[in-house]
Amino acid sequence: MKSMFGRIAGRYDLLNRVLSARRDVAWRKGALDLVEGHPAEVLDLACGTFDLGIEAIEQGKAVRVHGCDFCQPMMVAGAAKRQGIAVSATTGDALHLPYADGSFDLAMVAYGWRNFGDPAAAARELHRVLRPGGQLLILEFFRPERLWPRFFSATFNRIVLPTVGGLLAGDAAAYRYLHTSIRGFLSTTQADDCLAGAGFARRRWRSFFGGVSHAVCAAR
Ligand SMILES: C[S@@+](CC[C@H](N)C(=O)[O-])C[C@H]1O[C@@H](n2cnc3c(N)ncnc32)[C@H](O)[C@@H]1O
Repeated sequence: MKSMFGRIAGRYDLLNRVLSARRDVAWRKGALDLVEGHPAEVLDLACGTFDLGIEAIEQGKAVRVHGCDFCQPMMVAGAAKRQGIAVSATTGDALHLPYADGSFDLAMVAYGWRNFGDPAAAARELHRVLRPGGQLLILEFFRPERLWPRFFSATFNRIVLPTVGGLLAGDAAAYRYLHTSIRGFLSTTQADDCLAGAGFARRRWRSFFGGVSHAVCAAR
């Protein structure tokens, strides 16, 4: 998994923009609308090339962003974008975060939760590093249940993603993984239960593109 992200790191931003027709940018912005107030210390877990953290600073939803990812080449690929911005980078694993209890006012994960292997353990770890009253923001592709997202998944995700990913990133397998990981992940109902089980109280959901992607903001 780490090596797969390492292989596509250099082309990751380009592929995101092309494959989503820039919708990924709008979805990160829309997800951040769910965040209340002006959190100071913000964790961007599975930060990749820092798009969410940078957007959070620009929207005034974060004072300082602590980017964390287990794949160094992803953070290197995004390093130029965070120059002069209060976004730092740390190597770390979602299931064993290198932070003390109660370190953050807001923790965010964009398109990372699906990759963590044990979603419940990751949710508990995110709960641990948030201060009481802190917020968790997750943006993700959940397992589609309704007709339109299922159709989209069976056509675009299954056929177009690996084809274009193969052509532009030279790695069809990585983009085939995107489809299989979405199909194998939690539905929004299961994700909501998982967050509740980890101790997150109030959970507010927003869907994008007819339910192809979702954001949830939960209170600790
Ligand atoms: C699809 S990318 C998302 C990157 C970024 N958040 C975005 O919105 O573009 C998923 C990221 O999760 C990271 N990742 C996957 N599993 C991880 C783990 N167990 N711990 C930390 N990072 C992980 C990958 O290295 C990759 O950078």
